[in-house]
Amino acid sequence: MRKSEKESARTVDFLVLGAGIAGLRAAMTLAEHGRVLVVTKEARWESNTHYAQGGIAVAMGGASDVASHLQDTLDAGDGMVDRTAAEILVREGPERVGELLKWGTHFDRNGETLLRTREGAHSVARILHANGDATGAEIGRALAAVAQSEKNIEFAEWMTACSLLMEDKRVVGAELRDAEGRSQHVLSRATLLATGGAGQVYSETTNPAVATGDGLLLALKSGAILVDMEMYQFHPTALNIPGVPRFLLSEALRGEGAYLVNAAGKRFMERVHPLMELAPRDVVARAMVRESFAEGAKRPGQIFLDMRSVRGTQLAERFPGISRFLAEHGLRLDRDRIPVSPAAHYMMGGVKTDLCGRTNVAGLYAAGEVAATGVHGANRLASNSLLEGLVFGARAAKAMAIDCEQLPIPKTWEDASSTHPRLEISNTEAYERLESAIYALRGMMWRCAGLLRDAERMQEGREELESIAMEVCAIQGCASVSRLATEARARIEVSRALLECALARCESRGAHYRNDFPQKNSALARMHTHYRADGAVTLERLDALAEVHRDEEYDGKSSSQRMSAGTACGSVS
Ligand code: SIN
Repeated sequence: MRKSEKESARTVDFLVLGAGIAGLRAAMTLAEHGRVLVVTKEARWESNTHYAQGGIAVAMGGASDVASHLQDTLDAGDGMVDRTAAEILVREGPERVGELLKWGTHFDRNGETLLRTREGAHSVARILHANGDATGAEIGRALAAVAQSEKNIEFAEWMTACSLLMEDKRVVGAELRDAEGRSQHVLSRATLLATGGAGQVYSETTNPAVATGDGLLLALKSGAILVDMEMYQFHPTALNIPGVPRFLLSEALRGEGAYLVNAAGKRFMERVHPLMELAPRDVVARAMVRESFAEGAKRPGQIFLDMRSVRGTQLAERFPGISRFLAEHGLRLDRDRIPVSPAAHYMMGGVKTDLCGRTNVAGLYAAGEVAATGVHGANRLASNSLLEGLVFGARAAKAMAIDCEQLPIPKTWEDASSTHPRLEISNTEAYERLESAIYALRGMMWRCAGLLRDAERMQEGREELESIAMEVCAIQGCASVSRLATEARARIEVSRALLECALARCESRGAHYRNDFPQKNSALARMHTHYRADGAVTLERLDALAEVHRDEEYDGKSSSQRMSAGTACGSVS
């Protein structure tokens, strides 16, 4: 294969794709070891992190607090959580959050005391929040402010990573394109995918428009493995007003006393789970769908969030962002029942990594929502995602620095220029055709691979997907629609992986529920779907990659010994 020359490329030590919490935290550590370029598809703040409302779960009260956070994480994950990953999350979390405080993150306080709230499946109130319901935005602000002041960190905004550059089976950088489709090659010693989730494969989602799963496409094409792609979390309470985006209504509302009621105004979660509205997310979301079709209704009845009887909390002050958005639609938390329904929210699966962000492809790392360490199992515990970004972003950065210490910056890459025939159509036509293919795909995914699945509908979805894929493939050669084309291809690959993995897991567990296999199969508890670029799915144990890390990082102590060591574990600098 032809080699392209370094002269036409820009070089950095470390390339970070994505500027959410995982990317920014990683950049902070990487900057100590070399020049870092952080690439974002839009303005640097636009990411899932920015929209995270409820908070960040963290056990800052010592060993027993850490142990209970671990237990809640294991329980919510429905038998599939990788225990070592979860131990790392809860044990290293306090030190990482301590850094956030040092870097100027303003969490809500009463005097000096940090305020904490509770959310679904947490046994205690341990969730820190900021500006009431804008926790992600505040953390993102603080991290971006310190990152911007680092001389070794540079941002490239409004750039889409269209492909990864490879040399001898190693990732050596990425091809970026700007809004006009102009291409730039960046060569790096190591590349981190911190591109977030893929809620935009569904028509109903709380995720912003940028969450199209681009990192998963890049990873697959370079030979990385995706795991647990069937495990997509549906948040129970997105605002449901026709024609209005599915705005997230934080689980913290239920933590502060909101109920769910059916169209007749009756609570129903007491019939479903002892934790009622604070049951794990997958349980609440499914119960809402079932309740909405109660008594043989052909059309779903509306479910509402009801906070009208909550006393002692100034709701507009506690939830200012949510209250403002509701006010734009004539609603008030203290006066109205708020119409809600579940929406795609968080991807538990993703690019398979060890516990330091290493993928199976040399030079390629992943952290945050795009990565899968097994830390969330089949259902993520509320507000563990920001913590995951911090903890595993820092760990990935450390591994990148160590692995690349002796490595020169690459000079060349193998040229895999696209051989797609170019369609002779106008940009406007290409744009419109891509938009309508994406619209069809998102509707299909909601219908065929949403909260309640079965083989027949998923097979229908598979067929629909392949005809959408052919249409997108024909259009993608048009450079000026390169961002939309990349996003369309990413959605197709993610949808394909999700459908194939969901068909392969013939049981119901956590977020993955099959009407045709409604029970758990205990033989599958430790088995994870593995999806490769050729479309093959296997069910395997997760440990193969994780073992690499376990030996390095731990000193032979049993897991209970490690837990009793409490929070004094932070080995990442
Ligand atoms: C929420 O505020 O309900 C979202 C937090 C999360 O996704 O964990």
